[in-house]
Amino acid sequence: MVNKSNATATFDFTGKTVVITGAASGIGMQCARDFAAAGANVAVNDINQVALNDLAAEIAGLSLAGDVTSEAAVQDLTNTVVETWGGVDFLINAAGIADEMKPTFEQDISAWQRVLDVSLRGSYLMARECGQVMAKSGSGSVVNFSSIAGIIGLPGRNAYSAAKAGLAIMTRGLASEWGGLGIRVNAIAPGYIDTPMVEGLMSRGKIGTEPIFKRTPLGRFGRPAEISAAVQFLCSDSASFITGVTLPVDGGYSSFGGNALPEAGSLA
Ligand SMILES: NC(=O)c1ccc[n+]([C@@H]2O[C@H](COP(=O)([O-])OP(=O)(O)OC[C@H]3O[C@@H](n4cnc5c(N)ncnc54)[C@H](O)[C@@H]3O)[C@@H](O)[C@H]2O)c1
Repeated sequence: MVNKSNATATFDFTGKTVVITGAASGIGMQCARDFAAAGANVAVNDINQVALNDLAAEIAGLSLAGDVTSEAAVQDLTNTVVETWGGVDFLINAAGIADEMKPTFEQDISAWQRVLDVSLRGSYLMARECGQVMAKSGSGSVVNFSSIAGIIGLPGRNAYSAAKAGLAIMTRGLASEWGGLGIRVNAIAPGYIDTPMVEGLMSRGKIGTEPIFKRTPLGRFGRPAEISAAVQFLCSDSASFITGVTLPVDGGYSSFGGNALPEAGSLA
């Protein structure tokens, strides 16, 4: 299917400060570019310092290299954002890694743990630290990254699925706790999006385009800009009564219950 999507930033975030983790690649990078285009002060984090510095220079953002699993690093980077811009309006927790995609009997526990740590512990630490800053100003929006793998079962994806399902329920819990503080907490559950993470899985032969396209009602990969557009919506005043949700942005993947779509116009 031809990719006809042309999602672009449509919101004005002038004067707002956003912190984006995992910003040196893929979805996080697209979010950083789009928030910068929408006028926001953009603080970007990643463990890939070289690519992060290039991005920060491109968008005139604040480069905050560090590992989101480190409590000290997360506290330091949050303090730096506050010292620089006085607060945090939006937190986008995009840092994440894929799991080994091996049969369960062959999986390594340290690799399993690292997947959980980057997605779940990292998002928790970032939310805890930035949430305290948001609470002082009485407003804020957090967007976590769940996945279709946190909604439906996928073979071999134990740690990734557990982390992503964990993020969806943590999103509900934080939304419930922080609503009275003026902080909204939501998550996006992307389907297969054309990023270096998915390219890596394809080049290792772990996934293939044809089965995914046949299994996705919209018949293609999503684009990072289509995720970024949903992130901006959730941060914007247009979503002012939305909190605690995990929004699938997946071309219909999580809605479809079969294993291959029928031909267009046919039901079989
Ligand atoms: N691409 C997809 O199809 C897809 C689908 C569902 C969910 N997601 C989720 O969306 C998010 C972004 O995915 P992507 O496809 O852009 O991935 P990506 O691999 O292109 O980018 C992820 C970034 O996170 C960074 N990172 C890894 N560990 C880190 C750490 N400990 N601290 C700070 N940064 C770290 C990496 O260096 C990388 O730059 C991830 O949470 C991913 O799980 C992606």
